[in-house]
Amino acid sequence: MVRFTAVGLRYPSPDGRPGPEALADLTFTLPEGSFTWLLGASGAGKSSLLRLMHLAQMPTRGEMEVLGTLIRPERRGSLPALRRRIGVVFQDFRLLPYLSAYDNVALPLRLAGRSESSLRPDVTEMLRWVGLQGKEGALPQQLSGGEQQRVAIARAVVTRPALLVADEPTGNLDSHQARRLLALLTQMNRLGTTVVVATHSEELVRQFPAPALRLDQGRVAHHG
Ligand SMILES: Nc1ncnc2c1ncn2[C@@H]1O[C@H](COP(=O)(O)OP(=O)(O)O)[C@@H](O)[C@H]1O
Ligand SMILES: [Mg+2]
Repeated sequence: MVRFTAVGLRYPSPDGRPGPEALADLTFTLPEGSFTWLLGASGAGKSSLLRLMHLAQMPTRGEMEVLGTLIRPERRGSLPALRRRIGVVFQDFRLLPYLSAYDNVALPLRLAGRSESSLRPDVTEMLRWVGLQGKEGALPQQLSGGEQQRVAIARAVVTRPALLVADEPTGNLDSHQARRLLALLTQMNRLGTTVVVATHSEELVRQFPAPALRLDQGRVAHHG
């Protein structure tokens, strides 16, 4: 499903030369259908690792296999199709502010060329699944943080991705909303989606026990 072998990532430093490795020697496998916590202190490399996983960033060394496809930086042309099978949720939601909840969730389906009549049932079902029936017409600013994050989840999964990655998705939520969000993520996982969630909330990890991949200064400190 996701397999990293000796993967490293170096960002350029401000003078344009290669900087130090933000990620080094990452070797691990996430089985199909697994739920994995991604843990580690701020700066440990969680967001960088997730960006590699959802193909927003190419590694500078090593080998990466995502959804059964070997990632080759020199063959970037094939990445958009693969990316469409990966859902992403960010800490700051990243909803489009001028689009309603409905239109935010419909967006990936419209971009994929789906007709209005065929996407409507999917969008409506997803908004109901996250408990936002009746709020279809609301703009993001008219929704609470927890509601906005549930729109973001609906948008991430409306295309039925095989892999869902979430980068500190509860970082801007209170503990009640955080638990509610995790219940949705674990439900998605039980339906077959492979899920990876970065967090530094030990409380949340205790409430939803699952295998964890722990990073320490860009390296895997523990997996299991
Ligand atoms: N776009 C970037 N350019 C340069 N360095 C970066 C960039 N993004 C992250 N880094 C560096 O990579 C390391 C890991 O950061 P990050 O992946 O954001 O960690 P985390 O999400 O665990 O807080 C940090 O040293 C950070 O400064
Ligand atoms: Mg981060």
